[in-house]
Amino acid sequence: MRRFFLMALAVFSAMSSAQAKTDPLAFTAQGRQMELELPDGQTVRYTAYTGIRYVTNVEDTTYQTLNFFVPERATQQTPILLRTYVGGYMAAEARHPSVGDATGRALAEGLCVCIPGSRGNNSAQGGRYTGKAPNGLLDLKAAVRYLRYNDKHMAGSAERIVTDGTSAGGAMSALLGATANHPDYEPLLARMGAAKARDHVYASVCYCPITDLDHADMAYEWLYQNQRKDPEAARAAARSFDRYIDGLGLRNPRNGEPLTHENYMDYLKTYLMASAQRFVEEGGEVPDSLGFSFALYMPPTPGQRPGGPRRIRAKAQRTETVVDVDLEVYLAYVAVRTPLKGIPAFDNLDSPECSVFGDEEDNPAHFTGSGLSQDLQHRVRLMNPMNYIADPKATVAPHWYIRHGAVDRDTSFPISVNLATKLMNTGRNVDFRLPWNRPHRGDYNLDDLFRWIHSIM
Ligand code: DHB
Repeated sequence: MRRFFLMALAVFSAMSSAQAKTDPLAFTAQGRQMELELPDGQTVRYTAYTGIRYVTNVEDTTYQTLNFFVPERATQQTPILLRTYVGGYMAAEARHPSVGDATGRALAEGLCVCIPGSRGNNSAQGGRYTGKAPNGLLDLKAAVRYLRYNDKHMAGSAERIVTDGTSAGGAMSALLGATANHPDYEPLLARMGAAKARDHVYASVCYCPITDLDHADMAYEWLYQNQRKDPEAARAAARSFDRYIDGLGLRNPRNGEPLTHENYMDYLKTYLMASAQRFVEEGGEVPDSLGFSFALYMPPTPGQRPGGPRRIRAKAQRTETVVDVDLEVYLAYVAVRTPLKGIPAFDNLDSPECSVFGDEEDNPAHFTGSGLSQDLQHRVRLMNPMNYIADPKATVAPHWYIRHGAVDRDTSFPISVNLATKLMNTGRNVDFRLPWNRPHRGDYNLDDLFRWIHSIM
């Protein structure tokens, strides 16, 4: 009996190592012990697995690989932070964790980290630009599939993937969260030789996502029209945004009221006011010149009666409440901090967006307006998470952390507001803010981010 068992075991292990040899997507990487010294002097030890190919039909040997990092004491249940370094819709290489961002912090918090490379608008091999949209996104989806395909053989849980990215990377994170398992992407992933596995994720962290690209110009002019030298030129685009908002069918998550072009401005203002309010509550001071108005709330003094003696309260007993913002005054401040983009902000042939919708010879392409080929329309559709959030054929991440800095003008506030609102309207858990005084950045306030990550696990 014992001999039979040992023989069966030998046959089984020979079979699985043969499978590893014949299956190019099996996880066979050799780990290397590494260390990262954190700013507080603490040392994190981890195992690094690098240069892993996540598709079988590799078109780009530089970018189509992923790195995987496992801290000491990780188990099969440990969450995985999947951080993309995509910026400007360009290619991003698979990197190593950094003390300065969420990857180093994740290792210190005991999370596994995956840093996939992906192609982008500037990546070419043999003179052919293979990273035009949606190929960078497909690479990232293929990386998620790889993790799930090999879940039993790798530390960490592919059911607990948290994607993280900034700007165009924030858009990629949103797309990973919103479009997973959708049949639209299936034939493209099959052609690349992605692992036959599902590609949904548990949570998406999106810092200033440059997304909803086909509506980004109209949203930009709608918001900033009065800051333009020629407001009339901006008005036509702004009117398109009115129609877009009316068609989106969003509701105010606080009271369920439909959002329309008539009340949308007030809705947007609530997020800016909440941003200023939080800043004041943390002890900050908002200069009067920024357009916010405050009410001084004085809790009643015990024994005080109308007409009675006036009592002066200590400053600590008063709270200032933001009651309004003059949006034009505030937007003028945003535009002073960083001059606005030109018109159109996105669909101009020098933009990273026109480049990513370009062709394999690197000719940029317009991606809005009439006269787009069927193929291009489809590619634009595949790159917009808004198209998939309410689609039952997509597996949308249940948890979202979205941040768009309150002085970030790389895209307009409504882009993130709409993304967050649509997710809230469809029942997802969304932590969304316009953090005070934050420019176009990501991976800030990591205490807050990791508190949130732990809270959803
Ligand atoms: C990024 C910034 C932009 O302003 C833009 O249009 C696209 C991408 C970025 O930082 O990734």
